[in-house]
Amino acid sequence: MKILLTGGAGFMGSNMIHYLLREYKDVEIVNFDDLTYAGNLTNLSDIQDDPRYRFVKGNVADSKAVDAVVKGVDLVINYAAETHVDRSILEPKAFIDTNIYGAYNLLEAVRKHKIPKMVQISTDEVYGAVMEGESDEESKFEPRSPYSASKAAADHLCSSYAVTYDMPVIITHSCNFYGPYQFPEKLIPLFTMNLLEGKTVPVYGDGQQIREWIFTEDHCRAIDAIAQKGRLGETYNIGTGFRVPNMDVTRKLMELTGRGEDAIEYVKDRPGHDRRYAINSNKLRTEVGWEPKISFEDGLAQTVEWYRSNHQWVDACRTGSYKDYYKQQYVDR
Ligand code: TYD
Repeated sequence: MKILLTGGAGFMGSNMIHYLLREYKDVEIVNFDDLTYAGNLTNLSDIQDDPRYRFVKGNVADSKAVDAVVKGVDLVINYAAETHVDRSILEPKAFIDTNIYGAYNLLEAVRKHKIPKMVQISTDEVYGAVMEGESDEESKFEPRSPYSASKAAADHLCSSYAVTYDMPVIITHSCNFYGPYQFPEKLIPLFTMNLLEGKTVPVYGDGQQIREWIFTEDHCRAIDAIAQKGRLGETYNIGTGFRVPNMDVTRKLMELTGRGEDAIEYVKDRPGHDRRYAINSNKLRTEVGWEPKISFEDGLAQTVEWYRSNHQWVDACRTGSYKDYYKQQYVDR
């Protein structure tokens, strides 16, 4: 089975590559990634010489490169995305290029080369803020940030290709994930690093915004199960039901890092900040048979431990010095 992962050098993609190589002996993986700020080949340095793995540098917005890399694979999993809401507020264009145009290029290549399956990785943020109850797969899209709008547009494109061209596309909407290798701009890795380094953590607004959390390993298992058992043309929410205000996450992180009240700094709220996300993932559980296995307590403790032991990785992310590593290791590939 030859699998193309776009964005395989990022947080979710690199976790999935590790997962697939661990789980399957005769898998062949192509990682297509442009190594933008969040794509980091040191995430994969332990498996870079595995004969089942190949890296191709390229951007999903480049239709020719996408066409070439898609040809001949059995499955495409589209992880390539700009994902950070705060960045999308400052500079939306990259989100349009990568998230919308990238998905379009992949869909076109999958159509042309008659690839048996494509899984589009997306987010619960397309449903917008859910003040009460839960969003299910039939809920209306109400994106409220340039990031979620770009993902919603890509998802609509995927659904329309599934209907119009009878294409084998499956869409997933996941809640917030966390774990090792997440770029230290998102809540959990940013706060963890700040706390470990004796700095304060910037809590937006009153810190009572609610997010639903999934550990990366549980997410990998969900994508694997959906790719195997999900129905073509369908959408699946991937959620744990574990929902907490940001302040609760902050306090758990403070406990794990031994920090006190002085670590909290309330700062100006994010513009258009979605107050609450909550997804219903019954469809995934009943149809595909997936359940999360890792509790938030265990996942968070593992994550903090990983960041505590991988300072060098964080420093390389912050300074961009992993690019030099990339030049040394991959220049001839
Ligand atoms: P984030 O990790 O950016 O994910 P998303 O916005 O996609 O859910 O943020 C998670 C929550 O944490 C969100 O409600 C915003 C909040 N947050 C802060 O309070 N301070 C921060 O510095 C960051 C990055 C996020």
